[in-house]
Amino acid sequence: MRMSDSQSSWSEVDRYLIDTLVGEDEALAAARKSGQETTAPGIEVTANQGRLLGMLVELIGATRVLEFGTLAGYSTIWMARAVGEGGVVISLELEGQNAAIARANVERAGVADRVEVIVGPARDSAQALLDAGVAPYDFAFIDADKQSTPEYLRLVLALTHPGSVIVIDNVVRGGDVVDVDSTNDQAQGIRAALADVAADPALEATALQTVGLKGWDGFAIIRRLR
Ligand code: SAH
Ligand code: DHB
Ligand code: MG
Repeated sequence: MRMSDSQSSWSEVDRYLIDTLVGEDEALAAARKSGQETTAPGIEVTANQGRLLGMLVELIGATRVLEFGTLAGYSTIWMARAVGEGGVVISLELEGQNAAIARANVERAGVADRVEVIVGPARDSAQALLDAGVAPYDFAFIDADKQSTPEYLRLVLALTHPGSVIVIDNVVRGGDVVDVDSTNDQAQGIRAALADVAADPALEATALQTVGLKGWDGFAIIRRLR
């Protein structure tokens, strides 16, 4: 280890990787900054994670994206740029305050034409999409309240199609995920969702641990085979 403090090393390397390969234009930088005005400052994905989301969207040619948890719209912008013109990102956000900030950021990023932020509990909004008979989504990013992840996964499976890809953020949370007896609802929500994924033969999945600016965490990548 170059430094005694792991977190500062992880952050230094993340900054290097982001500066070298990814970067943030003015709109993304402004979206990150305005995240400080939301109800949950500083928890948006990092730039290199945002690029990964965008690349996954582009790699599968997704044009319809569904997001659970908008915050300031930072991840939303990465995915909205990736779906291209004519694509659509529906992002579900509980807090009106966050949604208003996100809409301004999305506008500034020039992708307002393809983004819709729906305010309310994500489970109700997703159920309403289902009831309305919307066309299926190609890609879903689950990144809202972690305890509800199993429910969001169920809804996502009803709102996607074979070939769709689902990413779940924050599946490691500093190792909490292996704390079987945890009274932490968030860790239990992630464990239950991953167990559901494992039990579903229609799904192929992996999960990767990450370290970096946001500490020790990870994401799951799930593919619907049928
Ligand atoms: N995806 C964003 C970060 C989302 S943070 C990014 O990476 O840029 C999680 C968000 O989920 C917060 O904005 C929080 O308000 C929202 N949230 C929490 N509970 C929710 C619920 N029940 N329904 C919808 N959104 C919820
Ligand atoms: C938290 C939520 C997130 O989505 C995230 O990426 C990091 C932290 C949180 O609720 O603390
Ligand atoms: Mg997250």
